[in-house]
Amino acid sequence: MLWLTFTEEVVRYYAPVTMGRRVIGDTEIQSCPVRAGEQVLVTFPAANHDLLAFDDPHEFRIDRAENRHVAFGLGVHRCLGSNLARLEMHIAFHEWVRAFPNF
Ligand code: HEM
Repeated sequence: MLWLTFTEEVVRYYAPVTMGRRVIGDTEIQSCPVRAGEQVLVTFPAANHDLLAFDDPHEFRIDRAENRHVAFGLGVHRCLGSNLARLEMHIAFHEWVRAFPNF
């Protein structure tokens, strides 16, 4: 069980992917005006450290039970390979600990 929460916490904490978007219409994001044609950075790592969304977000907890992170994105472009990535990380972390048992 700890392996699963650990893997999820690794992707929440380090969220290695940040995406950009081109704005298609004038609007506001949290009172900040954005105009058509501009670019915005979708900082998934920052969202994963949001104090309003997580308890002690800057703390790495291997047993974090509730972990609704956005490291794999959101909406229609959400990562297609997220479950493969989870499986690969699971295997890689197991192999790491097997190779370095005192880590
Ligand atoms: C830890 C590993 C990974 C992370 C953190 C990650 C993260 C992401 C994120 C944040 C997006 C959304 C991009 C957006 O909003 O435009 C995305 C999209 C995507 N990912 Fe991953 N990814 C991972 C591994 C993988 C793997 C292993 C595959 C496939 C073998 C994969 C395939 C894709 C594809 C095809 C999309 C595009 C989906 C779309 O635009 O409809 N990813 N990924």
